[in-house]
Amino acid sequence: MIINYKLLLTGIVYLAILVTACGQNEQATPAVKPPTQQKAGEVIPQMPQLKPIQVTEDTRQTYQWYCSQCHGVKGKGDGINAKFLTVPPRNHTKAEYLETRTDEQLFEAIKFGGLSVGRAPCMPAWGQTLAEDTIHSLVRYIRELCDCEAF
Ligand code: HEC
Repeated sequence: MIINYKLLLTGIVYLAILVTACGQNEQATPAVKPPTQQKAGEVIPQMPQLKPIQVTEDTRQTYQWYCSQCHGVKGKGDGINAKFLTVPPRNHTKAEYLETRTDEQLFEAIKFGGLSVGRAPCMPAWGQTLAEDTIHSLVRYIRELCDCEAF
């Protein structure tokens, strides 16, 4: 029997991409610590929900570091990882959609992942990685990107 190894290999690679496309994001976490990563044991003060936290250079860097692979450098949903995901990452510049989502929903999507707000699990949960303040500032940054607020 003749086995087409090339085809077989392509199939395996394709399957591997499909399998790893969703939910394996932890493995891609870079070894170098980004500026905003909290230290072990650091006490994060309890923040009231929806506290508007200013967007700083740190916020932008955090977005580039953790979000841009999927959401794109400019937030347009066109990151290098986007084509491997079964559900396309949100375009954070699209006001028509983001106006329909509250800041609380965006906060929850980032902290607890897509599933927590009825969205795809390909959107990972960042609550173990990012401090709440950082997540609040990311919500503000997304509002900057879409130049919109919730209705
Ligand atoms: C592994 C790829 C990936 C990474 C990395 C990622 N996201 Fe997402 N994100 C997605 C996908 C896919 C969706 C779309 C889910 C859907 O529409 O069902 C999404 C959706 C969202 C949404 C919209 C949720 C909603 O209400 O529809 C927000 C907000 C968001 N991401 C923020 C972020 C932020 C902030 C980061 C970085 C800390 C980040 N994402 C990193 C894949 C990713």
